[in-house]
Parts: sequence; structure tokens; C-alpha cells
Amino acid sequence: MSAVFGERIMDGRVAVITGGGSGINLAIAERFAELGATVGLIGRTQAKLDTAAGEIVKSGGKAAGFPADVRDYDALAAAIAGAREKFGEIDIVVCGAAGNFPAPALGMSANGFKAVVDIDLLGTFNTCRAAFEHLKRPGASIVNISAMQSFIPIAMQAHVCAAKAGVDMLTKTLALEWGPQGVRVNSIAPGSVDDTEGMKRLAPTSQARDTITSMIPLGRFAQKREIADLAVFLCSDAARFITGAIMVCDGGQSLASMRSGLMGGGKP
Ligand code: COA
Repeated sequence: MSAVFGERIMDGRVAVITGGGSGINLAIAERFAELGATVGLIGRTQAKLDTAAGEIVKSGGKAAGFPADVRDYDALAAAIAGAREKFGEIDIVVCGAAGNFPAPALGMSANGFKAVVDIDLLGTFNTCRAAFEHLKRPGASIVNISAMQSFIPIAMQAHVCAAKAGVDMLTKTLALEWGPQGVRVNSIAPGSVDDTEGMKRLAPTSQARDTITSMIPLGRFAQKREIADLAVFLCSDAARFITGAIMVCDGGQSLASMRSGLMGGGKP
């Protein structure tokens, strides 16, 4: 693929990425590292973080893992402080840790609903809140990973729709509060992204995948790297006047209305 961004445009920058051990968030970490940033990966499982960070280092990047569950404020704050101590002042925070399972509202317990809201929404708040004191100000940039569920109701996704709508309002509120201090806060709302845990859960069969693909104007799922490139853009000087924005990256998928049962392979 031709170069979308000049080499090393993130040299000298420090990024902390929650959920950075896998999926879209790892792709973001890899892309940032490839462009010169030092990346701190936060996630629940030390071994997963070590493997991910090890691969980045093997490819010539700078990375380390800092284990914490984003639902546990104190552990998360300690992990972020650890990243700052090791790498220096933080330029970029990506709040990507998320949970999902397809289930109708009547098929999930209050605790199931809460688990997803706690990881996605509370976890994003916790990360932004705990990172703020370590941010380079002015100049820092926060990217929250949302989803098209934040503005399109999708059956079997009540927990995710509620959580991601909250994430986007949090993005806008923090942009308002922290803009005067030179901290930009934006959301990325991906559509269907290839080779992710989320899509394995939401489109487990080739039939479900084909149905979804037929609704995407650009005719395919996104590649993780395409979401990562949007994150690079949002954290770059090219986006210096963008804050509080919800950047949809879905090949036009959200333009088509989602009907019940299209995701998750069945009617609730
Ligand atoms: N249908 C209905 N309820 C479900 C469920 C499903 N498929 N999967 C989990 N739950 C419920 C559990 O039954 C539990 O509720 P209960 O205590 O009333 O029984 C509740 O969700 C929490 O489950 P638990 O496994 O204890 O939570 P966890 O914190 O370990 O895991 C999840 C969180 C459920 C979101 C889990 O799917 C996860 O860890 N996901 C991370 C990876 C991921 O989802 N990636 C995709 C991101 S888009």
C-alpha cells in the first residue's frame, strides 16, 4: 500500500492505548509505533500485552504493557502513571477497551448490561479522568473508540448502543471542558471491521457477513489499518482544529438502516 502518512510523523510522541493488546486498538498501536510514537498498551491480561508489545518492539518500535482493567479506577490510574513514568508526558490517549456480546434485551441480565456499560463508558471516563494530569497541555489529543451503534439502534445491542451513545456525549463534553487547556477529544465510530473479536461475535456466519456486506456502499468491511489511519489523522497537526467530532469510518454502512436480526444472526 502506498504511504498515507509521511514516515516518522509521530516521532517523540507518547501514546497510551486501552484495549491495546488486540483488535483495532492493537492495529492503532502498531501504526503509531510504525510512525515513531512510543506506545503504552493497557489491558486486563499481562501475557497478551507482553506479546503485543514484544511484536511491536521486534518490528523496531517502542512499546510496553501496563496491565489494568479499565473498570478499576485505581489500578487504571496506576497503569497510566506507570506509562508516564517510563515514557514521559503523554501526548495521545486512545480509549479503546470494549466488550460486546449479541443478546436481546430480555436475554441479558442487569449485570450483563452493566458489564458492557462499565467497560465501554465508565472505562472511557476512567481513562480520560486518570490520564488528564499526565497529558501534555496544550497539545494532547484523546481518541475514544465508539461505534455506529452510538447513533443507530441495532437489535441485540441494547447495552452497546447505550454505552457508545454515552461515549460520544462524553467526547463532546470533555472537548468542551478541556479545549481551553489545549486538549482535543474526538470519537471514531467504525462500522464493520474485518478480523476483530466484535465482528466474530456479531457476524459469526458467512451468511450474516454477506448480509452486512450487501448494506455497505463501499462493498466491503473496513481493514483495521483504515481505522488506525483515522486515529493517526485525528492525533496529527492536520486535525489541530478538530475537537468534539464523531468521525464515522464505515464505508457508508450507517447510511443504510439496520433492521432487527441483521447483526447477531437472528431475530430477538
Ligand atoms: N448473553 C447474555 N449475557 C451474557 C453473555 C451473552 N452472550 N455473555 C456474558 N453475559 C453476561 C454474564 O452472564 C454476566 O451476567 P450474570 O452475572 O448476570 O450472569 C455478565 O454478562 C458479565 O459476564 P462476565 O463474563 O462475568 O463479565 P466479564 O467482565 O468477564 O466480561 C464481557 C465482559 C461479557 C463483555 C465479555 O464478553 C468480554 O470480556 N469481552 C471482551 C472482548 C470483547 O467483547 N471484544 C469485543 C469488543 S467490540
